[in-house]
Amino acid sequence: MERVVGKARLTLVQGDITRQKVDVIVNAANPGLMGGGGVDGAIHAAGGPAILEECKAIVARQGSLPAGQAVLTTGGRLPARYIIHTVGPVWRGGDQGEPETLASAYRESLRLAVSRGLKTVAFSSISTGVYGYPVELAARVCLQEAARFLREEGGVEEVRMVLFSSGTMRAFQQALEELMPSPQRWEAPTFVWHVVSLTIVSPTGEARGDEAPRKSVRGRAGRRIDRGRCAILRNGT
Ligand code: APR
Repeated sequence: MERVVGKARLTLVQGDITRQKVDVIVNAANPGLMGGGGVDGAIHAAGGPAILEECKAIVARQGSLPAGQAVLTTGGRLPARYIIHTVGPVWRGGDQGEPETLASAYRESLRLAVSRGLKTVAFSSISTGVYGYPVELAARVCLQEAARFLREEGGVEEVRMVLFSSGTMRAFQQALEELMPSPQRWEAPTFVWHVVSLTIVSPTGEARGDEAPRKSVRGRAGRRIDRGRCAILRNGT
């Protein structure tokens, strides 16, 4: 599923973020940046020890990473060149600033990508696993912030949401459809309903198979059509 926003593409794919061939992938990390379970564990396992080394150096330099902020490391052995590590909010009921912190995690990650000239960015669904953020709510915050960023700030070519499970994928699809409805498509029943039939009555009334020329004929709804005139009738009228 895809939408064009500004000059960029906003895409949803179901899959494994460690396999994405993009400039940078975004990890759902914790403030200590020491790896963990979920997507964080998968990224460190697939990318190798160089990632943890850089994470340790960052924490030694600037301390632990507050929620809503982002830092960049190598992608190690991953197909992606770099990893942005961001920390989402732990869900505490929704009135502890969770939406703002989650939006900040996406925004700061995108700003970091742009500042490093990285054009294709793949995100995991931040906070919706161990941190317990309800995915339907998180999907809306994520897509709203990504779309706002692409419209108002820009600088990337693709924001790709990589959703691991079919349930997460469905939640994001629904949120995207609500936020940016797909353009009206020509589907068969719609087409038939809207098609306009053109009935041409010839000057001699031959269109109705009349033997003798008639002055007028009647459309299916009984509307009179004078000889030598055209009528456009809606199907079913
Ligand atoms: N590719 C893409 N998405 C994945 C992958 C993967 N390989 N593995 C898991 N996910 C998905 C989960 O299904 C979930 O939808 O990532 C989403 C985020 O879940 P978590 O990884 O649990 O992240 P989060 O909820 O932000 O919790 C962060 O978990 O492992 C720890 O160190 C991490 O403490 C931090 C916490």
